[in-house]
Amino acid sequence: KQTGYTALDQGFVNTASTRSAITFIDGDKGILRYRGYAIEDVAKNSTFLEVAWLLIYGELPSASELAEFDERIRRHTLLHEDLRRFFDALPHNAHPMSVLSSAVSALSTYYEDSLDVHDPEQVEISTIRLLAKLPVIAAYAHKKSLGQAFLYPDNSLSFVDNFLKLNFGTMAEPFEVNPVLTKALDRLLILHEDHEQNASTSTVRLVGSTEANIFASVSAGINALYGPLHGGANEAVLRMLSEIQDSGEGVKKFVERVKNKEDGIRLMGFGHRVYKSFDPRAKLVKESADEVLESLGVQDPLLDIAKELEQVALADDYFIERKLYPNVDFYTGVIYKAMGFPTRMFTVLFAIGRLPGWIANWREMNEDPRTKIGRPQQLFTGSPARDWPSR
Ligand code: CMC
Repeated sequence: KQTGYTALDQGFVNTASTRSAITFIDGDKGILRYRGYAIEDVAKNSTFLEVAWLLIYGELPSASELAEFDERIRRHTLLHEDLRRFFDALPHNAHPMSVLSSAVSALSTYYEDSLDVHDPEQVEISTIRLLAKLPVIAAYAHKKSLGQAFLYPDNSLSFVDNFLKLNFGTMAEPFEVNPVLTKALDRLLILHEDHEQNASTSTVRLVGSTEANIFASVSAGINALYGPLHGGANEAVLRMLSEIQDSGEGVKKFVERVKNKEDGIRLMGFGHRVYKSFDPRAKLVKESADEVLESLGVQDPLLDIAKELEQVALADDYFIERKLYPNVDFYTGVIYKAMGFPTRMFTVLFAIGRLPGWIANWREMNEDPRTKIGRPQQLFTGSPARDWPSR
């Protein structure tokens, strides 16, 4: 209802933009639940596709529902041959996040049926297409940056193994599945699947509220995720750790510079708008970092720097007073690096993980008859009415 009163809420700190039944967060207690299930249980007992079903359809799937979902996604992994050639038009050093959002936007041109956002069958097929094709697009963005040939998807493999093969397989040699990588990546993707009304999900909803199709909405979400204060933080963390290592200045000195807000630097991978005691995802990722590096036999001094940074920051009044703790992005980069992904692919991995959350939110918004076009107000601070000068 119009009240005629405009309250300013910069950054939406105090107002809810929507109702949602998908994800619950209690930031003071460090609680995160997907459809009522604790993230710790979900991460331990499920798989990426099972969680995708849970988020999108609201309940855990039966064994046959999950098998059919998996099968349908496998059947839709191929990209149109023209879309494969779309990558030729981009520079080889293009940031893979830009490639990802552009190619997802281009999906609308191949699947114009998606424009009918009120036809449940079209929404369903668009959902499957997105889940099937985003990992392929992501892997091609990676291969493009390496100057290597794109592989066709191998539908005999699981969702995660297919993705790993598309990234790390070559035409020259058979690809060997590594169960350690499979499990670790599956877990990381699960931890990123949804996080209620973060900037990218809110973007997906805002664009979707205009009745733009799901490809256009998700493409906008990918662009919102790109920024270093959101998904881009995982890439920024690794750059920060490498800079600390290369400069030799030491962790304590770096933390002092952060506290002095020198050049506006922040401790990347620290702090969260909602979590004010700990980020439950960060706890689970930290466990994975130790496990994965150990089982891959990788020793990375950047992990030691990250642990020291965490220790120093958590004991410092600046971070205590501001309730700043490691967030999900703090340790993920070290794991992705150990898996063999280049730094510029890190945020792309976040996007693949977040896709089911974007889809679930878009569909919830699209199905709710109370949805209105998102149209924030402003407090005008410009000039009062002026007379046009006579010239
Ligand atoms: N390092 C140093 N100081 C910080 C940091 C940080 N990472 N984060 C917040 N602060 C300070 C900030 O300078 C401010 O201090 P003061 O009161 O003296 O001005 C105070 O803490 C409050 O900060 P804010 O910017 O008002 O907090 P916010 O809730 O608007 O921002 C945030 C949340 C995540 C953008 C911010 O903590 C940040 O920039 N963190 C680093 C980037 C990052 O890791 N982002 C990933 C978020 S989790 C994954 C995702 O969902 O994308």
